[in-house]
Amino acid sequence: MIIDGKKAAAELRSELKKKVDELKSKYNAVPGLTVILVGEDAPSKIYVRNKEKSAVEVGLNSEVIKYPADLEEKVLLDKIRELNNNEKVSGILVQLPLPKHINKRKVIETIAHGKDVDGFHPMNVGNLSSGYDSSIPCTPFGCSLLLKQVEKNLSGKHAVVIGRSNLNGKPMTQLLLKENCTVTITHSRTKDLKTECLRADIIIAAVGIPKLVKGDWIKKGAIVIDVGINKTDSGLVGDVDFDEVSKVAKAVTPVPGGVGPMTIACLLNNTIECFQKAQSK
Ligand code: GUN
Repeated sequence: MIIDGKKAAAELRSELKKKVDELKSKYNAVPGLTVILVGEDAPSKIYVRNKEKSAVEVGLNSEVIKYPADLEEKVLLDKIRELNNNEKVSGILVQLPLPKHINKRKVIETIAHGKDVDGFHPMNVGNLSSGYDSSIPCTPFGCSLLLKQVEKNLSGKHAVVIGRSNLNGKPMTQLLLKENCTVTITHSRTKDLKTECLRADIIIAAVGIPKLVKGDWIKKGAIVIDVGINKTDSGLVGDVDFDEVSKVAKAVTPVPGGVGPMTIACLLNNTIECFQKAQSK
């Protein structure tokens, strides 16, 4: 089975559009998402354009603020503080990576945690790891929704997460624990990755190495979610060797058309949730 992320994301967006319409009648206001892009990173420009397009499609107030790469850090922090105090803005996302002279940690910590649609603020990271209500980072959130389309009950499954980033691997681990999986976190220094993967019912590949996960790494019937987006001479490829793995796995996500579209749909979902929480305060 090939997991169709495009279709799942379209279904989620259509549910979210209905929700936005309901909120509009109830509060006479719609959720607003502000995305900040600093510099000229080419993939970031594409991601931001797609986020804006999807936000408009579901009826959110969408704003993109673009700054040059030599932006002074203080200007960015002051803009974030202004957005924190603007009640029309429900969610704030600062696209990463940022230019080197800007302190990423300071930026993330300046975003009000109630408007942190990325779930990167330490308050949200802590709440997620304690099992409390929090914004959930969009990519792992999307992965968990795709997983649950294949298998409703993940309890007791052995999941292997490849990659330990704050964006993907670590929050993914927390979500899998919440589903009662047994989780092994692996990374670039793991000694025998193939053996670890062969024990997995679920593999989440989020390490940024093209076609790392091979067909003979997969236990029969495993579910494989590919978070990788790697630019190669033969085009965009994931961290999973799709041709080999799709012959063995029970289900696998393609790249593109797997996790990517779900990430954006989950961002819209998080924006709506931030709006609802702000309204109920
Ligand atoms: N750059 C790549 N992925 C992401 C993401 O999920 N959020 C932000 N803010 N930047 C990113």
